[in-house]
Amino acid sequence: MGLERPLLNLDIRPARTTDAAAILRLHRGVLQERRYFITEPEEFRQSVDDKIRAVRELDRSPNSIFLVARTTSELVGFLTVRGGHLNRMRHTGKLEVMVAESARGKGVGGALLQAAFTWAEAHPDIEKIGLSVFADNTRAVELYRSFGFREEGRRTREYRLEDGRYVDDLLMYRFIGS
Ligand SMILES: CC(C)(COP(=O)(O)OP(=O)(O)OC[C@H]1O[C@@H](n2cnc3c(N)ncnc32)[C@H](O)[C@@H]1OP(=O)(O)O)[C@@H](O)C(=O)NCCC(=O)NCCS
Repeated sequence: MGLERPLLNLDIRPARTTDAAAILRLHRGVLQERRYFITEPEEFRQSVDDKIRAVRELDRSPNSIFLVARTTSELVGFLTVRGGHLNRMRHTGKLEVMVAESARGKGVGGALLQAAFTWAEAHPDIEKIGLSVFADNTRAVELYRSFGFREEGRRTREYRLEDGRYVDDLLMYRFIGS
């Protein structure tokens, strides 16, 4: 991690239902950038109750986790790993991560990924973490690579953006404990 970066005093911990409103605000803010996710902001219908349900659901699920990153004053990032529900997929988890625009490039995403791997290594049920990312999302792809994720596929022109541009969907994975 670059030494020139301002240090953030971060607390990484499992999400609580009381984080739901801040998680929703952050999620909506990232979608409003219109750059990184499939859902357009106008299509985003989640409520605080939906986030509360998600926090509870992932908390109850043994192969899932919902982590938040907080500074002393605010929630600046969150990460989810959603474990497969079906028997044949219980060893896999799908990862998503979002950091508030104002807090990017300061190690928050890396700290969340590190905490997710620490959790996964203590949960032998999870053997593989996968994700999908817009192929042009250089910061995210580089961060994932630096954590040992490898490319396992590319869905060409999977998304068509409002300006008519197509984006490939990059599939990446990492085995736990390797
Ligand atoms: C992707 C994201 C989660 C990364 O979080 P972050 O807090 O900005 O990341 P960090 O500061 O921990 O790490 C940034 C890493 O990305 C890479 N990086 C940063 N800026 C980069 C750039 N302009 N080009 C290439 N790589 C870059 C570096 O590898 C850096 O690692 P380093 O710490 O070893 O230098 C965050 O930027 C984000 O939320 N973006 C919008 C939502 C998103 O894209 N989510 C993922 C979708 S799959």
